[in-house]
Amino acid sequence: MAFTLPDLPYEYEALAPVMSRETLEYHHDKHHKAYVDKGNELAAEAGMDGLSLEEIVKQSHGKNPALFNNAAQHYNHLHFWNWMKKDGGGTSLPGKLSSAIDSDLGGYDKFKADFIAAGTTQFGSGWAWLVKDTDGSLKVTKTENGVNPLCFDQTALLGCDVWEHSYYIDFRNARPDYLSNFLDNLVNWDNVASRL
Ligand code: FE2
Repeated sequence: MAFTLPDLPYEYEALAPVMSRETLEYHHDKHHKAYVDKGNELAAEAGMDGLSLEEIVKQSHGKNPALFNNAAQHYNHLHFWNWMKKDGGGTSLPGKLSSAIDSDLGGYDKFKADFIAAGTTQFGSGWAWLVKDTDGSLKVTKTENGVNPLCFDQTALLGCDVWEHSYYIDFRNARPDYLSNFLDNLVNWDNVASRL
């Protein structure tokens, strides 16, 4: 199935000041588009263009790095846009998500600290994640570059892009502040809970 670049699910100004119009124009219109275009080209070359995005990510992991990088980043960004919303974030989580974070991750405050630490300690480009692991429990993880929970048969509940293209215009080098603001002001918790 050919990859396509979806429109953002909100206006370009919707996430400001945490994520500015300028950041979204570069991040969505340039970076995500490049993953879509290159991914389509490489999927066709590999004869995988008839597979689902998820299958392409899994089958190219560890075998076709160029295709994997672009397909995985397309997958990651498709979800990333929907993990955010205008006036999102904060501590009012849907009940079942809140309960799972309490029981598996020691409560929201510990989850928040661990998520920020995961994103901050990811050396170079990558992602911080809240995942449902293969045993059904929630975990906070981090991955490098385009690697994502699909590679480990985990379900991605929430991911935060910590590539510099996601925050450098708005936060410069202050990655911990970006991660904190992401959780406090942007996360679409209903979307996260719907993936449980
Ligand atoms: Fe990105």
